Amino acid sequence: MPLNLAPRKLFVTTALPYANGPLHLGHLLEYIQADTWVRAQRMAGHAVQFVCADDAHGAPIMIAAQKAGVTPQQYIADIARSRAAYLAGFHIRFDNWHSTHSTENQQLAQDIYRKLQARNLIARKDIEQFYDPVEGMFLPDRYVKGSCPRCGAPEQHGDSCDACGAVYAPTDVGQPRSILSGAVPELRNSTHLFFRLSDPAIQAFLRSWTADATLQPEIARKVSEWFADGLQDWDISRDAPYFGIPIPGEIGKFFYVWLDAPVGYLASLKNHFDKGGARNHWHVPSRTAQTFDEFLGDPLLEQVHFIGKDIIYFHALFWPAMLHFSGLRLPSKINAHGHLTVRGEKMSKSKGNGLDPLRYLDLGLDADWIRYYLAAKLNGGIDDTDFNPQDFVARVNADLVGKFVNIASRCSGFILKKFDATLGLPDQEGLALLGNLQTLVEQAGARYEAREYARCIRESMAMADQVNAYFDRNKPWELAKKPECGAQLLAVCTACLEAFRLLCILLKPVIPALVGRAQSFLQIAELDFASAARRMGPGHRIGAYRHLTHRVDSALVEQAFGATHLPSGCPRPMACAEKTAAAKAIDAAGN
Ligand code: MSP
Ligand code: ZN
Repeated sequence: MPLNLAPRKLFVTTALPYANGPLHLGHLLEYIQADTWVRAQRMAGHAVQFVCADDAHGAPIMIAAQKAGVTPQQYIADIARSRAAYLAGFHIRFDNWHSTHSTENQQLAQDIYRKLQARNLIARKDIEQFYDPVEGMFLPDRYVKGSCPRCGAPEQHGDSCDACGAVYAPTDVGQPRSILSGAVPELRNSTHLFFRLSDPAIQAFLRSWTADATLQPEIARKVSEWFADGLQDWDISRDAPYFGIPIPGEIGKFFYVWLDAPVGYLASLKNHFDKGGARNHWHVPSRTAQTFDEFLGDPLLEQVHFIGKDIIYFHALFWPAMLHFSGLRLPSKINAHGHLTVRGEKMSKSKGNGLDPLRYLDLGLDADWIRYYLAAKLNGGIDDTDFNPQDFVARVNADLVGKFVNIASRCSGFILKKFDATLGLPDQEGLALLGNLQTLVEQAGARYEAREYARCIRESMAMADQVNAYFDRNKPWELAKKPECGAQLLAVCTACLEAFRLLCILLKPVIPALVGRAQSFLQIAELDFASAARRMGPGHRIGAYRHLTHRVDSALVEQAFGATHLPSGCPRPMACAEKTAAAKAIDAAGN
């Protein structure tokens, strides 16, 4: 996106995490990717509202709360309180964090439902479902266990077999049991409400929308497979007891959690506007006091969702259909990413192979290191990203310390001691390097826009190599010994620090805190992409060199792995301890 176009207006979200456990590095991968994107958009002069929320509803959360002996409301409030430490700690700057269990979400979700109903897109159908007579509730598929109807393996989930991969209905398993009470479930009839995705109008809309929306190629392929299989009507109701939003006009029926979850994007945005918070980040001066409705109704607004590849179905089909047929604006872009693996393995609580983000911070490890490492592996595709501790240490030490910060630390001493902290003019060779770097900065907005972070970082580090090589060729340590070489020494160190400033611009979306420290060292204002053209220039004085970052200690990184960290100062330590047990049940049951 060229820099001279009118500022874009962006509404950006990340997927709403289930409020049933602490955030993990997989969540942070998504937030870091989105936060980096948003920072780059702001550096290009665009206006962004960036929101998220807890996904608070559903059976697993209701059951976890029961086990912890608290109300679901208390349970999700504890989880909500735990979020800030992760977000602030990893420099993830959402403009608002809200909850799907909120008046805004109830209003918006019920409103959408009424509009779908008015268009005759809601159907009633009787279904047979397992009911736990001891717990007095209908059982989600994953809450039934039994032997696989295909291979006979015992103790399999109610929807699929881990042993042979078969997919089936819970009513097909042998010797079914409720995982909640162990009771033999009974088949009962219940009337459910369905969103009629099989309706020709919806099918036609989705075919044309998915063809027009610039979906990633991998996603477009998936979507056409789904079309080929035929879209089924979507069951959007659940019977009481359920922790969710009541369905208007029904008794004892609630929206299935996935109906109201994406509506939470809008609820968080509305809450942000209603609180007046949107003004703080709204960079377009003539539009200070917009309302939520005005903002969302602006045809120029772009709505961008960052999600993991596991929830594409909901975002590429259900969500656009809900929005379109209730007269709301459609997403402009769905940015799906792959999953984070650890040492090549899927992350899992039971394996305990996760890196605990809060423990990482408590150990004094730098959030920007993780941001850098993950960004250096991210692109616009949906391949998985592996976190490998040794690779992490090597990468950060080689790039951030050995290449990037090295430039500042090796030049600053000469400028501070020999030239009264004052810069001069670069020599010809230095100017050529700066020209190349400036070209990179001009391309950076487009690289970040396309989520080509790995490429942007690779190109930046290749330039850092060139700057270091230029420094080495000129041997400033020898120039410093010869008074007649003072001018050359000043020129070389000036060129290197000007180059360092341009590298700071390139990397700022990824490592904002480190670049913040660099800005104070250089004594310059907040960097954005446009500031590339304005050199510090001769006569500019830099500040005292304070350490910008240091080498990573691999032993400390190993210590960051292990059992899940309980938020320090957790207001309900007992509830937290019990949650660990409840979390296992949720892990087993899925959502
Ligand atoms: N609550 C739903 C999303 C509702 S959005 C309207 C959900 N929650 S989740 O907590 O399971 O996941 C939240 C986001 O984190 C999803 O985009 C998911 O893909 C992402 N990740 C969860 N584990 C992940 C990894 N291991 N790696 C990368 N992202 C992962 O789904
Ligand atoms: Zn099987």
